[in-house]
Amino acid sequence: MSNRSRTQIAIIGAGPAGLLLGQLLHVYGIETVILERKSRDYVLGRIRAGVLEQGTVGLLDEAGVAARLHSQGIVHHGIELVFGGARHRIDMKEATGKAVTIYGQTEVTRDLMDARDKAGLTTVYEAEGVSLHDLDGDRPRVRYTEAGVTHEVACDFIAGCDGSHGISRQSVSPAAITTFARTYPFGWLGILSETPPVAPELIYANHARGFALCSMRSYTRSRYYIQCAADDRVDDWTDDRFWDELKRRIDQEAIDHLVTGPSIEKSIAPLRSFVAEPMRFGRLFLAGDAAHIVPPTGAKGLNLAASDVHYLARALREYYAEKSSAGIDDYSRRALTRVWKAERFSWWMTSILHRFPDTDAFSARIQIAELNYLVGSRAAATALSENYVGPPF
Ligand code: FAD
Ligand code: DHB
Repeated sequence: MSNRSRTQIAIIGAGPAGLLLGQLLHVYGIETVILERKSRDYVLGRIRAGVLEQGTVGLLDEAGVAARLHSQGIVHHGIELVFGGARHRIDMKEATGKAVTIYGQTEVTRDLMDARDKAGLTTVYEAEGVSLHDLDGDRPRVRYTEAGVTHEVACDFIAGCDGSHGISRQSVSPAAITTFARTYPFGWLGILSETPPVAPELIYANHARGFALCSMRSYTRSRYYIQCAADDRVDDWTDDRFWDELKRRIDQEAIDHLVTGPSIEKSIAPLRSFVAEPMRFGRLFLAGDAAHIVPPTGAKGLNLAASDVHYLARALREYYAEKSSAGIDDYSRRALTRVWKAERFSWWMTSILHRFPDTDAFSARIQIAELNYLVGSRAAATALSENYVGPPF
């Protein structure tokens, strides 16, 4: 082997889960190496989530990477629901005392990458053929190739933060994993545009033509989504077609205020619920999308990655500082308890807001009744709000 090195924690994947774990462990005095398959620019080019729970913001504070978030993030105290052509506000702050912050995943990632660079910590981008070894012994190892040279990193633990198609979960015997999955029969077509947001808060719309969401990244940059067919291709959707369809699904006030413009990014995301249990296999821990996927409705994906990282970072700190395995032994149970709350919420938000192939007149009326209950009942609005702002870590 040409190049051997050692670290305490080898982290696979430089998405939000891997980078945040690396930064928190650095704060706790624990050494990490991150191996990422793609280039830094590629990772930063992926447009994904935009809503951060208060707990996620707290964790980014703890990691010392939240200065730009606090100066540029937009704090939202409520969301709006559109159905039957009318708009209704849910006041989450009044219901829970908590808020969410609008700050793009791209920016979170950039802040974490910058902090890691500044601290002189090792991240290997374009690490090819990452493979995991000896997960059941007490000296696991990770191998990869960089620019044609094979490297091996020996470590105490491996954190699999490499997303849903990563190598970490695939390195475990299928017999050791139980999976739970649901695929939804539609996708989300999203566009980003340099236009001011249509409204101060996010608008989630239930419409006979399908779901729509008006979101934002800043006061000058908007993010909009519409439900589309699962097999639609981005090329099927010109910008004009997108804006026309969005206008059909939102309320009149939003139509009147909507500023359209050219898209600067356009993509289609499939919707899927997925959980792999457990989240620990010997010396390998899974965190974030490597272990679970939620449909995007309710913006839980990134926040769940953050809560996994919170449990895992604390467990590892306990292991090194107090020589106790209690935290790492309980990691999977603790993380999964919260994961399933988010799985339930995202599935439920998806089910009340989208048009399904089997949504008949009866089911459509039931959706409207549920939405009316949400905006008319303090108890129901509180239940939605508690989940939207995120259950405590
Ligand atoms: P990722 O962000 O997927 O990071 C994993 C990293 O591991 C990647 O950088 C990947 O390149 C790397 N990797 C993979 N395989 C390997 C390997 N073999 N070796 C080394 N590195 C590897 N959530 C929301 O809340 N709202 C949204 O609007 C939203 N939109 C989304 C749109 C899309 C298209 C997708 C895919 C997800 C979206 N999500 C959204 C979910 C959210 O972005 C994820 O939950 C979040 O990115 C999870 O972070 P992560 O670090 O666990 O995984
Ligand atoms: C965004 C995505 C979501 O899934 C959501 O529920 C709210 C906002 C976004 O990308 O801005």
